[in-house]
Amino acid sequence: MRSRRPAHLLDDAYIAKYQKAYQLLRALPDSDGRSWKNQANLHCAYCNAAFYFPMAKSRLEIHYGWFFFPWHRFFLYFHERILAQLVGDDTFAIPFWNWDDQSANPPLANVLPDVFANAMYKNKSSSLYDANRNACAQPPNIIDLQNLFQCENQTPSLKASLRESNNRIMYTQMVIGAPISRLFFGEPYKLGGWAGPGGGTVEASPHVPVHTWTGNPKAKIATSDMGNSQFSAFDPIFHAHHSNIDRLWEVWKALAKGNHQDITDPDYLNTEFLFYDENGNLVKVKISQALNINTLRYKYEDVANLWVHDGSDATSISCFPTSTLEINKMIINTPAFNTNNPITFASSTFTFCVSRPIKRQLHGEEVLVIGGLHIGNATSLFLNAFLYFPTANTNSSISCRQFLGKLGNSGVNFGPDLPDSKKEWRLAITPKLQSLGMDQFSHIVVTLVQLGEKGSKLVIFGIRVSRSY
Ligand code: C2O
Repeated sequence: MRSRRPAHLLDDAYIAKYQKAYQLLRALPDSDGRSWKNQANLHCAYCNAAFYFPMAKSRLEIHYGWFFFPWHRFFLYFHERILAQLVGDDTFAIPFWNWDDQSANPPLANVLPDVFANAMYKNKSSSLYDANRNACAQPPNIIDLQNLFQCENQTPSLKASLRESNNRIMYTQMVIGAPISRLFFGEPYKLGGWAGPGGGTVEASPHVPVHTWTGNPKAKIATSDMGNSQFSAFDPIFHAHHSNIDRLWEVWKALAKGNHQDITDPDYLNTEFLFYDENGNLVKVKISQALNINTLRYKYEDVANLWVHDGSDATSISCFPTSTLEINKMIINTPAFNTNNPITFASSTFTFCVSRPIKRQLHGEEVLVIGGLHIGNATSLFLNAFLYFPTANTNSSISCRQFLGKLGNSGVNFGPDLPDSKKEWRLAITPKLQSLGMDQFSHIVVTLVQLGEKGSKLVIFGIRVSRSY
């Protein structure tokens, strides 16, 4: 059994072994499937329009859909076995970068871990060093899952508000925004289907923002590793980041045993991928083999998931009047989304008709589907969604109870053959309505706010409420 530990709590002996493992990996010749370069390139053998299967509509993409969690689990599993073999220690495990922990008590979890960032290791000869990282993503700065383009010396009060918004994102994407499997894991992607049909809540954020923050959000692709999928696995922090993402899969399942289940679609379970094992042999694995980490012989050291409480709606404040009168006025004054009138925007507000509670019980979850997303390739782009908060803008705090969810898109190239109309983003509505105590209205009011690079191109052609979930 290999025990994955939080990266900010590693002892010197472990760090030495960790560095040694990557040293040995980097020393392997590229004729070996396990080599550093082959391992890093394997990531995007499965992404960025690298493969075109006969019968597929568009090029293979394991991001922005239901392959995201299992594929990365396997990727880490084999990577870990290779490292363990190289250092001759079968218990060696890839640490997890516990960036979701916002505790202000040192050693901090939500900074770039010492092992990657500390002056002691930040020399170009360390095997865990990567030159293409964001200068703003260095301690003492703490992680910013919300406003990635902000780069400044963080004052204590800015840090306090970052902790709050980081907690909110965690709670929103892990709990209130992911009540059912399909929203957590992402949309089905089968042979004959379109690539990147829609990522799950956690994939979109915080997964993408951590990449973007660690790479350089303003840099060109060639000088940012973590910020784009083509090069992200060339930074050893990638694996520590994904170790945490993989841990969150386990955390999500444990949060609500009845509803938080793995996907059972046979098409998903029987999907196969190829990896190099620790002996350099090419092996084939099936998603059904990825679902139980016990059988994969690893586990996560227990840590407190503080955001379950600290980021909850119950501890947040309402940012807009919630009286029946105000809401009815708001609904009347807000236009419906017009499909003939796609939006290109900074922020826009629309109403949508929703079911009353009784009907909702019969039809299951109602989900807001934001479709026809035209996102310029390789752009870092983020959207915040709010419910019943029509004045929300780029400065609005996601600490508001009205914060509904966050979309993150990093530099993925889907290739030339994927129509924009096939990209979608989904948001759970019902739990938020209940949390706001506002599930009696016939309409919701949704405000979308675009964050990110100025001039990044986003067009939305279709938004609807889907009841058949
Ligand atoms: Cu394959 Cu975090 O990306």
